[in-house]
Amino acid sequence: MTVVEKVAALAAQDVRIGYGDKVVVDGVSLTIDRREIVCLLGGSGCGKSSLLRGLAGLAAPQRGTVSFLGQPLTAPHPRAALVFQQPSLLPWLDVQGNVGFGLDFARQPAIDDASRAKRIANAIDAVGLASHARAYPSQLSGGQAQRVALARALAREPELLFADEPFSALDAITRAEMQDLLVDLVHRWHTAALLVTHDIDEAILVADRILLMAGQPGGIVREWRVDIARPRDPYAADVIALRLDIVAALRSGGA
Ligand SMILES: Nc1ncnc2c1ncn2[C@@H]1O[C@H](COP(=O)(O)OP(=O)(O)O)[C@@H](O)[C@H]1O
Ligand SMILES: [Mg+2]
Repeated sequence: MTVVEKVAALAAQDVRIGYGDKVVVDGVSLTIDRREIVCLLGGSGCGKSSLLRGLAGLAAPQRGTVSFLGQPLTAPHPRAALVFQQPSLLPWLDVQGNVGFGLDFARQPAIDDASRAKRIANAIDAVGLASHARAYPSQLSGGQAQRVALARALAREPELLFADEPFSALDAITRAEMQDLLVDLVHRWHTAALLVTHDIDEAILVADRILLMAGQPGGIVREWRVDIARPRDPYAADVIALRLDIVAALRSGGA
């Protein structure tokens, strides 16, 4: 193992996020190991998105530090990718164009045309949309559009994928497919992931580790390592036991 592999994908120390005088997240320290899937679970308004923005370098913490692959993070990193609840595709670009969009922006590492095309094709293939590569966003279902957003993230060959409630707008069946796809992609592309969700079952099915966020301002109040073998059966005894434990923790405010 090289030295780089021992460094966490992300490490945050005593992070505070606020808007002016209003502190919405405080005292958060966490690490995400390389290739680890961490779910940040909490109710609406507890500060999950604010924390994610701080960890991704989209907003500067009011105190504390964030490091990415061992280096201080002060702006979004080219090897970190983001997926949000809305796929926000550009309607005038086809799937290929959307997946490639931003790959040649100034802060991205320079790549030649052939590698760029290969990366785009690989990412589209990985999310199962090879036959839709020339389709436009208006021709895609909600689930397909979110697959494009995932492919756009993968095309950056990320070390860490930040996903903020990426499947919340999808129907239950599509959501379950996308949860499986996310786990599969993270494993095959050797990336780490921070998945923000308010859905306990989503966290249990996807996570290697669950961080429960609660409080005003929000902080991490409990943590579970999820060692249950995949694929995880929602009705297996160990899954049910974990769900009950999380529900109890949520009811007691995390204590
Ligand atoms: N841009 C903003 N300006 C002021 N307050 C904000 C802003 N964004 C979020 N907040 C507030 O921060 C708190 C946490 O919001 P958010 O991070 O979106 O929570 P979550 O993602 O868990 O639902 C809420 O009280 C919200 O109103
Ligand atoms: Mg949110």
